[in-house]
Amino acid sequence: MATKLSVGIDVCMTWERRFYLNLPEVQKALHANRTNLPYPWSMCSSVVNYSDTDGNIDMLPLLKRIVQNHIPVWVFSGDQDSVVPLLGSRTLIRELAHDLNFKVTVPYGAWFHKGQVGGWATEYGNLLTFATVRGAAHMVPYAQPSRALHLFSSFVRGRRLPNTTRPSIDD
Ligand SMILES: *[C@@H]1O[C@H](CO)[C@@H](O)[C@H](O)[C@H]1NC(C)=O
Ligand SMILES: *[C@@H]1O[C@H](CO)[C@@H](O)[C@H](O)[C@H]1NC(C)=O
Ligand SMILES: *[C@@H]1O[C@H](CO)[C@@H](O)[C@H](O)[C@H]1NC(C)=O
Repeated sequence: MATKLSVGIDVCMTWERRFYLNLPEVQKALHANRTNLPYPWSMCSSVVNYSDTDGNIDMLPLLKRIVQNHIPVWVFSGDQDSVVPLLGSRTLIRELAHDLNFKVTVPYGAWFHKGQVGGWATEYGNLLTFATVRGAAHMVPYAQPSRALHLFSSFVRGRRLPNTTRPSIDD
């Protein structure tokens, strides 16, 4: 039952996620729960005691501090995300770039994956990137796993997203 998906929309995802992330082999692979906590993993447990107002905390000062320490930051957004639409995130990152006096180092344009547009991206001050993932909803790796992996591995390897359809040496 845990792997049985309905066609199109997976209405059981919340349940499957809890099942999956509680599998001992998954926890081992993620180096999670190494202390054998006495309760199961759940999406929003009361253990951490989140405040309802935490969701309103402005994250930009924190991102600013990270970037000011020369650590690259990428903010990405599925371009079909109706929960956190890309326009807000894109605007906030542009405002942060202005605040940091960063110049545009990659103008807003398409990036490519497997010969197709993977999304659009822009970069400021060689450090701060905003990227969209085409055809992705709120949970980007779930909706567009291949494009999401390309985005994530580019970030981890410190590489820009490809601005041509020509395959790179690693593809
Ligand atoms: C942690 O692992 C133990 C098994 O060692 C399991 O019983 C428990 O549910 C897990 N807790 C969390 C938070 O993953
Ligand atoms: C969670 O935090 C609130 C506010 O600090 C406190 O009133 C409440 O008792 C806490 N709940 C738990 C379960 O720790
Ligand atoms: C693509 O990226 C390269 C390297 O960053 C740059 O030199 C080139 O001008 C870019 N091409 C376009 C069309 O943006």
